[in-house]
Amino acid sequence: MSSLPRSVVIKGTGSYTPDNIQTNNDLTKYVETSDEWIFTRTGIRERRIASADETASDMGAIAARRALESSGLKIEDIDLVIAATITPDMPFPSTACLIQTKLGISNAVCMDIEAACSGFLYIMEVAASMLKCGRYRHALIVGTEKLSSILDWEDRTTCVLFGDGAGAAVLAPSDTPDVGLIDFKLGADGSKGDVLYMPGGGSAIPASSQSLDDRMHFLKMRGREVFKLAVTVMEQAAKEILEQNGVNSDQLSCVIPHQANLRIIELISSRLEIPMDRFYLNLEKYGNTSAASIPIALDEAYRAGRIQSGDLTLMVAFGAGLTWGAALVRSP
Ligand code: ACO
Repeated sequence: MSSLPRSVVIKGTGSYTPDNIQTNNDLTKYVETSDEWIFTRTGIRERRIASADETASDMGAIAARRALESSGLKIEDIDLVIAATITPDMPFPSTACLIQTKLGISNAVCMDIEAACSGFLYIMEVAASMLKCGRYRHALIVGTEKLSSILDWEDRTTCVLFGDGAGAAVLAPSDTPDVGLIDFKLGADGSKGDVLYMPGGGSAIPASSQSLDDRMHFLKMRGREVFKLAVTVMEQAAKEILEQNGVNSDQLSCVIPHQANLRIIELISSRLEIPMDRFYLNLEKYGNTSAASIPIALDEAYRAGRIQSGDLTLMVAFGAGLTWGAALVRSP
């Protein structure tokens, strides 16, 4: 490509979820809960739990390999790897570097970006911008999470909501205008950081026997507040991106929302006046997989034929930070 690319397209997608299924009934062994409570409040029936020796980078590498296969590209075509995760194998090196090594990618820029459940949309915009500069040829972007490793299995208000898994996409520049990643609308409000966070393990509260006793290395959440904020920011981001691009909601063939809670998605559906049957849903089987949620759903939607050539798809997410994002994609 001689001049700068006119657009960036999704060349391939892949996903991976562990085989081990944990049902709502299984959770009653750890906490006082029921299938009825969890399903009616969230729409979740079961989630996948990684094995003890399976890491976020292991899962991410499998999803990445599948994305590469579906793109038709080769390992040596990739020169940019970006991962999004709140459950990296370790604080450093980055999960992207670990995935690079597992795939045998020899010559690439690799980094992690952390924006919790909005992470995949964040890395998508960063990778797309880097490709549009013309300095990189193809990007591999990966959302991967082993949330089971940071859940407090004695806290029924959080441990029932999340699961493990990974999703990935290969992005490529294109000379065709108005296709692929049409636009993004990302946002953040750090003043709301205390509604959903993990206090321990960083420089504020390094790991110690005291921090372990105080259960500081687990995810903490004020669910009701998160619920309200999620609906507000997702509605706003979606409306802004549609308006900015002169798109009417009935022009959308598919909506891929962050899969956190069916009730949140139903509210978004009614506020945007987009029927529920246009939303791709899989949270019943996986729960909330944070940064992996959108890429797993995207991969499944492509493979199920829910997204066809020419279709306009909206992706919309929110997460800890508080962060949020929307992306508009036209399939080539
Ligand atoms: N089983 C049974 N009872 C429960 C459970 C459970 N698993 N969890 C909470 N309860 C109880 C509570 O203790 C409370 O009991 P009380 O009235 O005796 O005090 C009662 O159920 C109601 O609790 P609420 O928290 O008010 O329940 P709510 O209807 O708000 O549902 C939920 C809770 C499902 C967590 C909801 O608030 C929610 O989905 N919030 C959004 C969470 C979310 O999406 N988080 C992901 C963020 S994305 C990221 O970045 C990771």
